[in-house]
Amino acid sequence: MNTSATEVRPARSDDRDRILAVHLDAFGDAEGPVIVSLLEEMLDDSTAEPVHSFVAESANEIVAHVLFTSVTIHANSQTDDRVSAQILAPLAVTGERQGRGIGTQLVEAALQRLAETGVQLVFVLGYPKYYTRFGFLPAGVRGFQAPYPISEPNADAWMVLELAANAVESFEGTVQCCEALSDQKYWVE
Ligand SMILES: CC(C)(COP(=O)(O)OP(=O)(O)OC[C@H]1O[C@@H](n2cnc3c(N)ncnc32)[C@H](O)[C@@H]1OP(=O)(O)O)[C@@H](O)C(=O)NCCC(=O)NCCS
Repeated sequence: MNTSATEVRPARSDDRDRILAVHLDAFGDAEGPVIVSLLEEMLDDSTAEPVHSFVAESANEIVAHVLFTSVTIHANSQTDDRVSAQILAPLAVTGERQGRGIGTQLVEAALQRLAETGVQLVFVLGYPKYYTRFGFLPAGVRGFQAPYPISEPNADAWMVLELAANAVESFEGTVQCCEALSDQKYWVE
């Protein structure tokens, strides 16, 4: 199987069970059930709207999935309503397909579509080595606080990407996620 046969498309409602299976497989026995439960909550969370959900499909099989949910940015106790921002979480590539560029292909295509819909900023809490390939940069030093403080040794895991010119320097504040993702247990890095 090569990645040229893999296509990225928006997820449909009837993909849901297959998407959950991808995350269960990718994250393994320990973390998988926690991520699946979180993902189900996020998919049913009205505070996550607008949601952007994409799958990578190969020969009619869903091999990867990424979800983006809405976040707001708060500065001086007020929501900044000028900014359109999202957070990337979770992302998974099914176990046997990992390490073949599918995650990269999926995220690149998804970010392109987000940019086209007018999203200005995307946040992620994840592996710096992985996400810097898409242009993500440490967010804390650029004035964006995570919903919960990220411990100093892992501060670079909290990242931001601008999809619109000058968006990073135009805004700052504390990022607030949808209700499902606002549980502190998801912010230990
Ligand atoms: C992390 C993940 C999404 C990457 O997707 P992928 O299709 O396997 O990755 P790609 O083939 O696009 O890219 C491979 C690169 O990712 C890196 N990578 C894979 N897993 C990584 C990890 N846990 N930490 C850091 N880098 C990682 C590889 O080192 C490789 O780097 P290189 O290009 O410099 O050699 C996928 O491996 C996965 O689903 N893992 C389990 C679930 C998970 O951890 N998801 C959370 C993502 S924050």
